[in-house]
Amino acid sequence: MHIGNITINGCAALAPMAGVTDPAFRTLCTEFGAAYTVGEMVSAKGIVYHSEKSLELLLTPDKTHPSAVQLFGNEPDTMAQAARIAMQYRPDVIDINMGCPAPKIVNNGCGSALMKDPDLCGRLVRAVKEAVPVPVTVKIRKGWDNRCINAVMVAQICEANGADAVTVHGRTREQQYMPPADWEIIRQVKKAVSVPVIGNGDITDAASAARMLEQTGCDMVMIGRGALGNPWLFSEINRLLEHDRPSLPVSPAERVAVLLRHIRMMCDDKGEAAAMREARKHAAWYFKGMKGAAALRQQCNTLATYADLVNLCRTAYENISLADRS
Ligand SMILES: Cc1cc2nc3c(=O)[nH]c(=O)nc-3n(C[C@H](O)[C@H](O)[C@H](O)COP(=O)(O)O)c2cc1C
Repeated sequence: MHIGNITINGCAALAPMAGVTDPAFRTLCTEFGAAYTVGEMVSAKGIVYHSEKSLELLLTPDKTHPSAVQLFGNEPDTMAQAARIAMQYRPDVIDINMGCPAPKIVNNGCGSALMKDPDLCGRLVRAVKEAVPVPVTVKIRKGWDNRCINAVMVAQICEANGADAVTVHGRTREQQYMPPADWEIIRQVKKAVSVPVIGNGDITDAASAARMLEQTGCDMVMIGRGALGNPWLFSEINRLLEHDRPSLPVSPAERVAVLLRHIRMMCDDKGEAAAMREARKHAAWYFKGMKGAAALRQQCNTLATYADLVNLCRTAYENISLADRS
């Protein structure tokens, strides 16, 4: 598929996830077959005021192209200025966040609060589009709540103002992340616009990715929580779609090896202290379903150094029966 003039070779993208989709995780998911990745949302105001934390979030690892930087904000001029600055980090696409449900974001009129003001959504797209030479996309929800389900209208307005693709998360803001995602709204948006539509919500395995593509007609699927501690999901999806074959289960030994590599990359990028604070949740996700997982996951909370993680992985490895160590 294409987003504007950007070619994307594949059908499965990694969703933006604040606190998760940093350069290390995006690199890993790309290696496992993610065709496109989106970075953590970044405050447009933070960028314009040169906040170091915000600028760091714009880093786009070399290995992850094509990839997007995602901005949040609600002032067209500030968004345009932030997008111009973001271009120094060489993203392939600029994405606008119209879906974040967090109170601190929506109470400032940003994220999914934008769905209540479709006209403003259009003005934001137009402003960013005029500011940068790369494609501009939006990530929307089904609507604000069950009295305001307007994904189709918001997508059409964004397209009319220059959006090059639309990602649809099939839940309202009120639903946050809990009830099953509504894929029918993705199908409706796909029918209503001519730019590519990326479907998002509840893809947990290769079969559900294939089902979403089939049921909604969307051009690509985007995976969030299903990829946590599970970057293999992308190769599983690609194998099913390209060869109509399921993948073999990932061995516990490989799980441990990839976890170590993931956290090593984070330590190299951010320094050990900061990386290890974030590593706790990643390690817990990787250990899910493994022998002795409950105890391992509890110990993740105490990880302070990379050496602690190596020790914990040794324990995990000792739990694995000899037969499984392949
Ligand atoms: C920890 C976490 C952080 C997220 N951060 C972002 C974000 O920065 N920008 C965004 O558009 N969506 C964000 N999302 C929403 C996801 O991109 C995705 O839309 C949502 O999780 C539904 O997809 P899933 O069912 O595959 O998880 C986040 C979700 C999670 C779980």
